[in-house]
Amino acid sequence: MDTNKQTSKNIVLIGFMGVGKTSAGKVLANKLDRQFVDTDEQIEKEMNMPTATIFEALGESAFRKKEKEVILTLCDKQNGTIISPGGGAFLQQEIREACLSSSIVIFLDLSWEAWQERLPEIFDSRPVLHDKSVEEMKQLFNERKKLYEQNYHVRIAIDQLSIEETAQQMITALRKSESSTIH
Ligand code: S3P
Repeated sequence: MDTNKQTSKNIVLIGFMGVGKTSAGKVLANKLDRQFVDTDEQIEKEMNMPTATIFEALGESAFRKKEKEVILTLCDKQNGTIISPGGGAFLQQEIREACLSSSIVIFLDLSWEAWQERLPEIFDSRPVLHDKSVEEMKQLFNERKKLYEQNYHVRIAIDQLSIEETAQQMITALRKSESSTIH
């Protein structure tokens, strides 16, 4: 399907924590025969501890610094990698700019109502949520949504979609997108 892997743009999936960037990204990478990188996993490997421990032991700023380093390095390589950054990565302007200029950015858009149903599954491993009430989480969700809405090339509403359907819709959208090299 992808005949020009060496020169293909990277694809970056954005969206709030727990929307399925990693699951859908893995399926997409598989379908397009591309490499996949979950940047949280990469950070954990390089820092040799889980994200929650990095936040606890070293603070959020140490995590964000490493996150920037990992993502900018990935953006420098134009090799068609599917990249799943953490939901907070786009808070950093340098990351936003690097991703938007080097890659196709896909916003996986889940509603607050649908996200809330996933909360019990994702809570423990997301330190950003730990000190927050549901009202505060909703506020963060809406703030982040505004950020994602201003910084994407392709948007997919995923409330009604399975992981497989999400990946399929991404492929359809990428095919339509002018900047895509997928044919
Ligand atoms: C974060 C999202 C997490 C992870 C970290 C911080 C955030 O990634 O990077 O816990 O600030 O939104 P996921 O979006 O993959 O959950």
